[in-house]
Amino acid sequence: MSDQEKSGMSRRDLMAKIGMLLNGAAVVILATPVIGYLLAPIVRGDGGRYRKWIDLGELDEFPEGQTRLAKYKNPISNPWDGETDNIPCWVRRVEGEKFQVFAINCAHLGCPVRWFPQSSLFMCPCHGGVYYQDGSRASGPPPRGLFEYPYKVEGGRLMIEAGQLPTLSTSASLRARSNGCQG
Ligand code: FES
Repeated sequence: MSDQEKSGMSRRDLMAKIGMLLNGAAVVILATPVIGYLLAPIVRGDGGRYRKWIDLGELDEFPEGQTRLAKYKNPISNPWDGETDNIPCWVRRVEGEKFQVFAINCAHLGCPVRWFPQSSLFMCPCHGGVYYQDGSRASGPPPRGLFEYPYKVEGGRLMIEAGQLPTLSTSASLRARSNGCQG
């Protein structure tokens, strides 16, 4: 084998190794965000959810036996979110420190439901879904009752656990029930 052939081989080897290195670097660059996304829930140890207890206000703001609209600032927010940062929810004070805090979104396709004190019903303007005052389904297309936030009373103030809208997947409703709510 001539010197020229030897140097040709080594150049090819070198080029092949550089190519492999560049491929490896490209794989790392492309895979890092994907792996980070997949591992983030494990690293954070919160199951991928970002939840936070939010102060909804003093108990006096929610008279017993009434349902009132409240708003809270989304704990997961961006500077450009603007008004959408303020998330409404329905607060029903059953009695004493027993509450139900409902997501405003209909359990059918998510339209905001409205409370009608005259009939003690929540109604959805989109497809006519109706809910009783305890959030349970009364009629229409919704497959279930309204979703509920977990809540607690602390220092005379009503707190809800927010940061992820309550849905079936969060099992927030189940935990709300464990606080003594019905629904
Ligand atoms: S979104 Fe409420 S009934 Fe369809």
